[in-house]
Order: sequence, then C-alpha cells, then structure tokens
Amino acid sequence: MTRAKQHSRFSHYERVELAGKTVLVPYPTRIPREKLVERDDLQNRCLAAWMRQDGIPSLNFRLYGPPGCGKNAVVYWLAQHQGMDLYIINGHQELGPEDIACTVTMTSSQTIEYVASPLFAAILRGGICFFDEIGKAPTSALDPLASVLDDRRTLTSVQAGIHLQAHPDFLFCAALNQDEEEGLGLPGFIDERTRPAILVDYPSRQVMERILRANLPTAGDLWFQVFFEEYQNGLSPRVAVTMLNYAYSLSRMAGRKSPDAGRIKVYLEQAHKDVKPPKGRRELS
Ligand SMILES: Nc1ncnc2c1ncn2[C@@H]1O[C@H](COP(=O)(O)OP(=O)(O)OP(=O)(O)O)[C@@H](O)[C@H]1O
Ligand SMILES: [Mg+2]
Repeated sequence: MTRAKQHSRFSHYERVELAGKTVLVPYPTRIPREKLVERDDLQNRCLAAWMRQDGIPSLNFRLYGPPGCGKNAVVYWLAQHQGMDLYIINGHQELGPEDIACTVTMTSSQTIEYVASPLFAAILRGGICFFDEIGKAPTSALDPLASVLDDRRTLTSVQAGIHLQAHPDFLFCAALNQDEEEGLGLPGFIDERTRPAILVDYPSRQVMERILRANLPTAGDLWFQVFFEEYQNGLSPRVAVTMLNYAYSLSRMAGRKSPDAGRIKVYLEQAHKDVKPPKGRRELS
C-alpha cells in the first residue's frame, strides 16, 4: 500500500495513546447544517431525557417509528441545537461486540492496529453517540453497551484490554423501525436501558410543509399549495420530499420555470406514479 493511500485511509482518525497502545479514534460525523426543521412535538421530550440536573445523569432514549418519518433528522437537529459532536454507529446483522468497542487486527506489516468505534470516541471525548438501526444488531454485539448505559458509564474492550470511564458530556440515543419495536423488541437489558421510547410518527400538515419547503427552497408557493390539495395524508416526509423534488425536476427538464397549477398537478401525478410507497404501507388519501 502506498503512503498516500494509507494517509487517506487514516485521515478520518486521530491517533491517541491509551493504556500503552496507539488507538485510531474516529472523528465525529459531519451533519447537514441546513434543511433541518424542528419537530416541536418531539424535541422537548428528547431534550428532557438528556437533561442533567442535581447530579442526576442523562437518560438514553430511543426513537422508533415508520420509515422515512425523521428519526435521523431529529438527532441531527438535536446535535446542532446542543452544539455537540455526533458519532453514529449503524446496526447490522454482522456486527460484533468489538465493532462497538475497539477492533484489534494484525496489519500486513505485522503490527497490531487498534481501531476505536464511534461509541468509544464519544465516550472518550464527550459528544452524542447515535446507535442507528439498533434493532438489526445481534444481541451478543450489544453486550458492551450494558455498562455504558447504566450507572457505571464504562466501556470495556476485552480484545484491546482498554477500559474507559465516560466523559461527563457523553450522551446516547438509538433508533429502530416500528416493526422491530413492536415485534420481538430489543433484548431485555437494552430495552430497559434505552428509555423513554419516543415514537417519531407522520408529522402534522404544518411541520410537513416546513420540511418540504426546507428541502425545496427554490420551488414557488404554488407547488406546495397544489401538493397539499392533491396529497393530504399518509406520505412520509422522505416520500413527499422525493415526490415533490422529482415533479419539480420533471418540470425543469421540460423548460417550465413557473408552471401553472394544472401543469404542476400533471407533474405530481407522474411523480406519484413513479415514487409512491410500496404495497402494505399507509396509502395516499
Ligand atoms: N425534521 C426534518 N427536517 C428536514 N427534513 C426532514 C425532517 N424529517 C424528515 N425529513 C426529510 O425526510 C427524509 C427522511 O428522514 P430520516 O432519514 O430522518 O427518516 P428516518 O425515520 O430516519 O428513516 P428510516 O426509518 O428509513 O431510517 C430526510 O432525508 C429529509 O429529506
Ligand atoms: Mg434513519
């Protein structure tokens, strides 16, 4: 491997000396600064869970709900509002306990490489750790979280032989989809440690309009007016943003910068056909 390649591979990591080892610790995730719309029905509940007062530690809440309704967006907004770094772990079936603590591998040059997880980084430096899709992680992978999320606030990497006490500014939250929350659910020890469980449902008409306007700042008022006349309920923000974005692009492709209401309706109908939610989801009104 060339030097340049090595540099690009490790440039997302800081080298930190810990327990006599050099550990590669990831930098925080860059969050989109624009486009985020406050969900006033949700934000206060999340902020209340994270409130630290009179020596009482913060709670580790989880978000659940139908797809595309804004779980990630809520967390990005919270990180931005709190002015805190955000570290994201994505749950999947292959995840192991060391992936959420610290992996230890032998490199081709026969040196041992320690790579810390985003959770490890948030615990070390302070910041928010967001465990997205936690319902997809195997139970055994979640074992190291037990001591992180209770009064101990410690993370142990058995393989790396590193034991960390959480920074006072470490916060945690997680997200999973509604089927996982309401089906078998999370393993008992994680279920109990990630409360409150806050439902991120379809937003109100007002919030939806603000989300659409934030995501399509150049579209004129008429676009939103026609959209809400034709498609009142049942769309997730993701589907609504995609549909409106696509309809708007169709009109631009046709060279129409300011189409009338009738034309907008035609583009929206085409977009609805091509973008509409798969069968089994909540349908359009
Ligand atoms: N509060 C918001 N502000 C701005 N845009 C939003 C907001 N909520 C949702 N959106 C729009 O909807 C899309 C989907 O939102 P998000 O990714 O947060 O949903 P999710 O609930 O995490 O979905 P999934 O279950 O698939 O992970 C975003 O990419 C964005 O375009
Ligand atoms: Mg998401």
